[in-house]
Amino acid sequence: MKIVVLGATGTIGKAVLELLQSKGHEVIAASRSTNPSVNITDPVTIEQFYEQIGEVDAIVSVAGEAAFVPVDKLTDDQIQLSVNSKLLGQINMVRKGLSRLRPNGVAVITGGFLAYNPAPQTAMIAMVNAGLEGFTKAAALDLTQGCRILIVHPPWVAETAAALGMDPAPWPNAAETAQAYLTAVESTKTGEAIFVEGYAPAGF
Ligand SMILES: NC(=O)c1ccc[n+]([C@@H]2O[C@H](COP(=O)([O-])OP(=O)(O)OC[C@H]3O[C@@H](n4cnc5c(N)ncnc54)[C@H](OP(=O)(O)O)[C@@H]3O)[C@@H](O)[C@H]2O)c1
Repeated sequence: MKIVVLGATGTIGKAVLELLQSKGHEVIAASRSTNPSVNITDPVTIEQFYEQIGEVDAIVSVAGEAAFVPVDKLTDDQIQLSVNSKLLGQINMVRKGLSRLRPNGVAVITGGFLAYNPAPQTAMIAMVNAGLEGFTKAAALDLTQGCRILIVHPPWVAETAAALGMDPAPWPNAAETAQAYLTAVESTKTGEAIFVEGYAPAGF
């Protein structure tokens, strides 16, 4: 398959890129620092990016920022960044990529476990993750020609936990987390949330 990995230079995205390549897929790495580049907060660059890469079988997004700040300390700019980057950025990456998606193609976006198990300081992240899941469930109903959309909700990733000064031991590493994206690409599911194996919230 020809697969775009948005966020391919990041902690999780790099592991997703390596895993998909190891399975023989043709992977196009995308971020603000790749060539061609894309900035998901700027819809014009998304259109220019797709014009350059042409048709694909899968769009896998592992990018987008959201503020990790207590709700009473959030600034207008931090709220706007969360909405424009992780929420609308990924939605626009999918929306503008649909015309480039081949029949039976798949779009996979990234939310996060905090949609289900919020923690202090995560009001923006939890809101964006839950919004992305709502988008996924509804957008799946509009897709045609066998195309699918799924959302992966990673838990904390060990590398990120360590970088934040948390105990990384309870969490999967990026390579283990990447397996959920491979599962999403290779599955026949649509309009659903995918969790890293062993890290689904209660009820899943
Ligand atoms: N790491 C975790 O523990 C964890 C847990 C749950 C959910 N998540 C979610 O997973 C996603 C990836 O997390 P991560 O930790 O791997 O992030 P990361 O290491 O910070 O990497 C982010 C990636 O996205 C790209 N990117 C950021 N803003 C962009 C933009 N405006 N346009 C295009 N590309 C952009 C970055 O590349 P450039 O800077 O070159 O553009 C980089 O490749 C995020 O949405 C995060 O909320 C992460």
